[in-house]
Amino acid sequence: MISFVLAVGKNNEMGVDNKLPWHLPSDLKYFRKLTEGKPMIMGRETFESLPGILPGRLHIVLTRDPDYSVESPQVTIVNSLDELLAMLSPGQDYNVIGGKMIFDLLLSYADRIYLTKIDSTFNADTYFSEPDPKDWEIVEEKEGTLDEENTLVHKFIIMDRKKER
Ligand SMILES: NC(=O)c1ccc[n+]([C@@H]2O[C@H](COP(=O)([O-])OP(=O)(O)OC[C@H]3O[C@@H](n4cnc5c(N)ncnc54)[C@H](OP(=O)(O)O)[C@@H]3O)[C@@H](O)[C@H]2O)c1
Repeated sequence: MISFVLAVGKNNEMGVDNKLPWHLPSDLKYFRKLTEGKPMIMGRETFESLPGILPGRLHIVLTRDPDYSVESPQVTIVNSLDELLAMLSPGQDYNVIGGKMIFDLLLSYADRIYLTKIDSTFNADTYFSEPDPKDWEIVEEKEGTLDEENTLVHKFIIMDRKKER
């Protein structure tokens, strides 16, 4: 199964200057819980925005640059959608973690979206293209807990692709 994992602001803001526009530790914790132990698919820009190679997860990085390389057994580089699709194993769960370009590229292959919706607006240069609600249904929605570290009102939403009837 292919799942998207992302967080957005009120206007679907996703990023600014190749960073997240907010500080929300509870979402980073949720991200870790969802992604640990499973391969993650991402664009080169998102890969470069990470604080480093995240432990316990294969990083599959899309770039068109055939010379792009990263010296780590935890990183696999792919140069096209076809190359990516050819390497995916049926029965394996994959998390697509962005950014916008890669979500656009892979939306038609996704079955689930783990969406953290933050109830604030942000200065941003990258926005998520909201999927068509006729194709997706919310199957779970939970308010995030607020505390000293997590001051932004947010909810954790799970959306599944609607089954054909
Ligand atoms: N809010 C969130 O949950 C979240 C999640 C992830 C990222 N972000 C933010 O989103 C922003 C980055 O998103 P982005 O859309 O600019 O970049 P991105 O999707 O992370 O990466 C784009 C890059 O992917 C490669 N690529 C795209 N299509 C390809 C294809 N068909 N074949 C091969 N390679 C392909 C290209 O790399 P080359 O240029 O090397 O060819 C392209 O420049 C940052 O601000 C980041 O912080 C936010």
